[in-house]
Amino acid sequence: MKHYLQFKDLSADDYAYLLARAALIKKKFKAYEKHHTLADRTLAMIFEKASTRTRVSFEAGMYQLGGSVVHLTTGDSQLGRAEPIEDSARVISRMTDLVMIRTFEQTKIEAFASCSRVPVINGLTNEFHPCQILADLFTLVEHRPAASGQPLDAIQGKVVAWVGDGNNMANTWLQAAELLGFTVHISTPRGYEVQASTACVSDTSCYKVFSNPLDACRGADLVTTDVWTSMGYEAENEARRAAFANWRVNTDMMAVAQPDALFMHCLPAHRGEEVTAEVIDGPQSVVWDEAENRMHVQKALMEYLLLGQQA
Ligand code: CP
Ligand code: NVA
Repeated sequence: MKHYLQFKDLSADDYAYLLARAALIKKKFKAYEKHHTLADRTLAMIFEKASTRTRVSFEAGMYQLGGSVVHLTTGDSQLGRAEPIEDSARVISRMTDLVMIRTFEQTKIEAFASCSRVPVINGLTNEFHPCQILADLFTLVEHRPAASGQPLDAIQGKVVAWVGDGNNMANTWLQAAELLGFTVHISTPRGYEVQASTACVSDTSCYKVFSNPLDACRGADLVTTDVWTSMGYEAENEARRAAFANWRVNTDMMAVAQPDALFMHCLPAHRGEEVTAEVIDGPQSVVWDEAENRMHVQKALMEYLLLGQQA
């Protein structure tokens, strides 16, 4: 049994399969073709933080695979009344086939997985957001495919510029870069840097640090950013607004990237904070495809975790 708690829980071969499978699943979805590979299976979704995309993409995706979902939050379950996470895992995993969790510390999802009888998927923790990076890579391959037609060839050797917080998204980009062979050019304000140890990458060779965000964007194939304040860090809002003022993706940054560079944002976005409206609503932005692709890649992922590779 495999869990998907971090990006590096799957191999490069797994990703080559998943990216190709997600393309097939998306094509069938667009053609209104049935794809009921998870008929009679149940997904439990546990949300300890807010969500729009993750909720809708997992819930709609599971129904489209022929399965069903159970939705739990901290407020409407015993999770909010201090039932140990391990006990919740033992119970929920006896009644369902798959569990998706969005929570705070990575240690919490690890504790759940250690007592779960069924695969567990990380729907975002303070440290990682692997489903989002999977969707982002799929979106990159879709918009900038390799001549070989191999998804991983479209990713290898690329430069991804990260502008902003050294957060769960940034950490996951680093894991993806190390595993799939590309480089992250990262610029964060002082005090908000990524740490190789927190990102769980073996060394710093998959990323380069730039003090000026414009330099991080120079020559990049993809420019990406995220909110200045992630969920769970709201008490730091004031300090972060001051610290991040120069880490706003704008047209000057896009102008020094490759001429065909894409802009991505996992959303929700705050126009005028981490990105200007001109960039996120501009011609290089692929944020709506990126959001939609969450559903297609997660359908491939759920199917893979329960059934393995399909011919
Ligand atoms: N990008 C993302 O995970 O969005 P939600 O917080 O809306 O799920
Ligand atoms: N870094 C953000 C991502 C939201 C999808 C957060 O954790 O709140």
